[in-house]
Amino acid sequence: MSHEPEPSHAHTHCGCATTDRPGRREFFKKTLTIVVGMAAILAPIGVAISVLLDPLRRSGKGERLVRVASLNAVPIDGTPRKFAVVADRTDAWNKYPNTPIGAVYLRRTGDDKVEALNVVCPHAGGFVDYNAANKCFLCPLHNSEFSLDGTILDPKSPAPRAMDSLKVEIRDGEIWVAFQNFRAGTRDKIPA
Ligand code: FES
Repeated sequence: MSHEPEPSHAHTHCGCATTDRPGRREFFKKTLTIVVGMAAILAPIGVAISVLLDPLRRSGKGERLVRVASLNAVPIDGTPRKFAVVADRTDAWNKYPNTPIGAVYLRRTGDDKVEALNVVCPHAGGFVDYNAANKCFLCPLHNSEFSLDGTILDPKSPAPRAMDSLKVEIRDGEIWVAFQNFRAGTRDKIPA
């Protein structure tokens, strides 16, 4: 009975002890290339899907021109008045008609001139009130006062910037506002 030696992957005939490691290395390299390639393809798809499924992220970008009020509804004497901003909102599956998406202060600065300020405080997102007695805006969260044009009145205010002004268009006696929210807590106005 002869005992045939088991086949070996080692190369012993030339005296060196090389094995099949290069082959395995090649296999791992190919696998890694495929995995990296798949990740490169799937990552942008994942981002696109997350944006599609997240209505807040989608609606947060870019301004929307919304009809807010008629010119006659804003006091001629320059007193600011608060208005809800109502618009259709859409997410991946549903449309929500006439939904409040924010609020603005409108103030007449001339016969047919209007300024708009977002009511959200640029410090930490509180809702700014109008203080009729002092004719200024007041954020009750940290007692910050802003002038009627939105600039910071109180030097000790923690707000990093003035209230956020918004573009206004008057069309046939109607006030349209390019509504947009901005990030709180930053010196620059960065769309949220
Ligand atoms: S949130 Fe308005 S001052 Fe802090």
